[in-house]
Amino acid sequence: MRTSYKQNEFGEIFYNLVTTYKPESVVELGVLDGYSTMHIAKGLQTNDRGRLWGYDLWEDYGYKHGDMDEVYDMLREEGLSSYVTLMKGDAFEVHDEWAENEIDFLHVDISNDGKVIKEIMELWHPKVSGIIAFEGGSVERDNVDWMDKYDKESIVEELRTNKLINEYYTYYTYTEFPSMTIMFRRLRGCL
Ligand SMILES: C[S@@+](CC[C@H](N)C(=O)[O-])C[C@H]1O[C@@H](n2cnc3c(N)ncnc32)[C@H](O)[C@@H]1O
Repeated sequence: MRTSYKQNEFGEIFYNLVTTYKPESVVELGVLDGYSTMHIAKGLQTNDRGRLWGYDLWEDYGYKHGDMDEVYDMLREEGLSSYVTLMKGDAFEVHDEWAENEIDFLHVDISNDGKVIKEIMELWHPKVSGIIAFEGGSVERDNVDWMDKYDKESIVEELRTNKLINEYYTYYTYTEFPSMTIMFRRLRGCL
């Protein structure tokens, strides 16, 4: 299974996030071969509740992409298909399918860069009541070759300056490669 998450076993982070926070509604933007999808679904299976909706452009994406039928086959073999709905959709458009605060856990992994994170936050922040996790956030990840080659904007800098993130979320970045930033919606005076 192709994924940059495997080398440092990020599947365990997804599984532990899901079994700890027990989300009912999980949305994933960027499925590829289904590594993160599978580990989120394993957590939902352990919880015996919740569902994951996974969006990807699949064959419409001009770079490395996966195949929806193959991901469903893998999920079926793992006994996880009843927890997951896969769809074709553009992450910058399908937010309209969700109501305000409807999503408990959003995972964003669509070849992220600083501009992607900025735009995704503007579109999806109103839909999320709990956790947003996205791939990236470390200096090492900002410096991978394609970020430099295509002159992509820094995620570290976006995290530092993004008004929505800094007003509404408490977050940390797990820095093992490729890194992941996990953001918890602030409770606003509840504690
Ligand atoms: C880095 S891969 C996802 C990796 C996967 N989450 C994993 O665990 O290995 C990026 C995926 O995002 C998809 N993608 C890129 N731009 C997208 C967009 N605007 N909307 C939906 N999917 C997109 C690509 O087709 C590709 O499958």
